[in-house]
Parts: sequence; structure tokens; C-alpha cells
Amino acid sequence: MLCLKVPTDAAWAAGALRDVDAVLVDHAHCEMKAASNALSMATRHLADVELVRAMTDLAREEIDHFQQVLALLVARGVPLGPPPVDEYAAELRRRTSGTHRGQGDAAAVVDRLLVAALIEARSCERFKLLAEAAAPLPEHAALHAFWTELLAAEARHYRTFVDLAERAAGGDRVAVLARLDVLAGVEGALVRELARRGEGASRATIHG
Ligand SMILES: [Fe+2]
Ligand SMILES: [Fe+2]
Repeated sequence: MLCLKVPTDAAWAAGALRDVDAVLVDHAHCEMKAASNALSMATRHLADVELVRAMTDLAREEIDHFQQVLALLVARGVPLGPPPVDEYAAELRRRTSGTHRGQGDAAAVVDRLLVAALIEARSCERFKLLAEAAAPLPEHAALHAFWTELLAAEARHYRTFVDLAERAAGGDRVAVLARLDVLAGVEGALVRELARRGEGASRATIHG
């Protein structure tokens, strides 16, 4: 799937489907965080019109996704509640920040965009797994359609971030893809670690 180095373990989707309400709650928070991150990127680079347009378009789309998940939660009578600690995103940012040290501000921007691309890629992979797991289950027909639609959007967001990273790197696509490969290695190791840690526990979260 896209640039990912470590596929999600086979047990994840079936486990997540056992607690659809929890998956949807986590999913709603992920969409809100994706919108916040896009707005934060735009705010940091207000002079860059192309980036600001791309990030505000993306934020609008993530908010739309959030509202769709919220509607599902309301229909199911499930309260959203405060956001849980997103160990995946927090740890990914921690492990990748500073690894570009000494290469200037542009490298930091490229890394931030590529980490966002990886998070989109992982979401895309997870929605595909959820859609596949839900496909044979008539009670989950609506969710199957929803997740199928979303995985296409997340794949598009992944490409947006990689394209912006290429632009931030002065058009050097080869260098950007090489850097993406390095960061994908860090992300893959983290995903493997979280899966190992979560064995036997409920993993009804999008990135857990
Ligand atoms: Fe989204
Ligand atoms: Fe997204």
C-alpha cells in the first residue's frame, strides 16, 4: 500500500470490527486532528499561497469526513468524548523530529509534510482493511461503502503531501522519495511495535 514498509497485521481489522463504536469514535478524532494539522501547516506558512490553498482545502475535506463520522455516531447513540492519547501520531512525530538536524528549515518542512503523508497512507491502508472486513457482513454495508469512499480520499491526501514535500525540496523528487523511504522505515517499526504491545488487547483504533 503506497509507501508503507510494514503491512498492518492480519488480526487487526477483525479485532477492530468487534467494537465498531470505538473505531468510529477514534476515527472521528483522527479526522479532527487531520484538519487541525492542515490548518496548523497553513498558519505556519501563510506567505506560501499554494501551500495555504492545499492545506485549507484539505482541512475542509477532513472536517467534512469528521461530520460524516459524527453523524454515524449520533445515529448509533454513541457520545464522542474527549480525544484519547494518539500514541501512534505522537510517537511518530517524536521519532522523526530532529532526524534532519543540520539540514536547515526546508528539510524540517519536508519532513513534516512527509510524516503527514505517512499518516494518510496508514489511514488509507486501515480503511481498506476495514472495508474488506466489512464487505461480507450485511449489517456493515453502510460502513463498507463509507470506508471505501474514505480510503480513496486518504490516498489523494497522501499524494498532496508528497507533492508539497517535493515542492518544498525545490522539485527534487528523487531526494524526497529517498527521505520518505527513511521515514517509512521509522513508521513501519513503530506500527510493528504497537501491534506487538497491543496483542490480546482491544485494538479498535484506526492506528493502534
Ligand atoms: Fe479524512
Ligand atoms: Fe486525510
